Amino acid sequence: MPPYIERLVIELTNRCNMKCLFCPHHVLKTRRKDMDFELFKKIIKDISDYNSANSENRLTDIIIFTGMGEQLLYSKFNDAVKYVVSNGLKAHLTTNGLILNDEKYSGMVTSGIDYVNISFHNLTKDSFKYRGTKVSYQKYYNNLLSLIDLHLHKQFSNHLEISVMYSLPDSKEAFLWDQLPSMHFSSYQYILLLLDFLRDIFNLLDKRNIIPETGIGDLLGVYENGTIKNSTVFNLTKNLSLHFTPLQHQVFNTREKLKGEAGKKIELVKKHNAHCYYLRGCPMIFSNGDFIPCGSESTGELTMGTVSFETSFISILNSEKYRQFVKLITAPIDDLNKLPFPCRECMVLNELKWKSSPLC
Ligand SMILES: C[S@@+](CC[C@H](N)C(=O)[O-])C[C@H]1O[C@@H](n2cnc3c(N)ncnc32)[C@H](O)[C@@H]1O
Ligand code: SF4
Ligand code: SF4
Repeated sequence: MPPYIERLVIELTNRCNMKCLFCPHHVLKTRRKDMDFELFKKIIKDISDYNSANSENRLTDIIIFTGMGEQLLYSKFNDAVKYVVSNGLKAHLTTNGLILNDEKYSGMVTSGIDYVNISFHNLTKDSFKYRGTKVSYQKYYNNLLSLIDLHLHKQFSNHLEISVMYSLPDSKEAFLWDQLPSMHFSSYQYILLLLDFLRDIFNLLDKRNIIPETGIGDLLGVYENGTIKNSTVFNLTKNLSLHFTPLQHQVFNTREKLKGEAGKKIELVKKHNAHCYYLRGCPMIFSNGDFIPCGSESTGELTMGTVSFETSFISILNSEKYRQFVKLITAPIDDLNKLPFPCRECMVLNELKWKSSPLC
């Protein structure tokens, strides 16, 4: 019996309308592709049938549309949401929000979307330039505020989450990202930028007579001394939240950086008691049908099988190849060399260490 999947990622398309420098999207080797809508429906129907036949051991309850691309470019996006909902599952979305206007947002909500995460990320015009779009920062920002206002005004029942990405310069990780200097802030700079952003959001809440569940002091407090390390979510209302997420180093990006200047000072070291806890969280079906066991693996090198009209998703989950992989990766790992490439160098199993004092 396959293990319960907390959220199954389905990538409807790997086309994108941004070119973010921090994203592995640009190294994709696969042809830009949309998922066949009939294949998508088959995947959902198979999951739904499995859930009905195994009510005590359902396969999953949540489909999240994300992956290596912008899912709102998929022409049948709302139909996909409706299909998921009509099969007794919840539909989530992670989007860059670039083409998300009030009308599209309302359409998505009417279709039954349950959770929308907008990767807003950049608190400055300078860092927004890393996202490779001709749309101006001001336009993008104003649009975001308008969507939040609409969400509050219409009292939509879905959850809206706004993600902000950051990288604090005193972290070892920031060192690897020295080609993105505008993403690095001192804690003090960061708090000032955050204050501007929070003022705009809190003004919207005020305009709609909503008392936020989290105060500005709580939000800023976490950043004191730059100690925040992991992603953190703050609820402002019962269905509006802010998600602060650190810039991370995808597997191969880290490897590439370590080959260069960074590698002279920093190395990858296996974590004590390393084992992978990611498999339940974000296994993913790429737009070409390839099934990969986790979202940290964007190269496609861990493909466990390709979902098609002949090969069902469930049959891949039950395959010997996948079972063996799950066994290998979830057990305590003594020797990373026994693992396939992306796992060997994955940050879930490794950490970055300074070879000598950072001051040298
Ligand atoms: C690959 S994107 C796909 C969805 C959509 N295009 C978007 O940008 O929201 C999924 C999420 O991964 C995040 N992401 C991309 N590169 C990242 C990195 N190096 N560190 C942390 N998050 C990253 C994106 O910002 C986004 O929130
Ligand atoms: S983060 Fe999202 S928007 Fe940016 S390039 Fe990657 S897939 Fe596209
Ligand atoms: S160790 Fe492997 S399976 Fe686990 S998150 Fe990393 S790349 Fe994915």
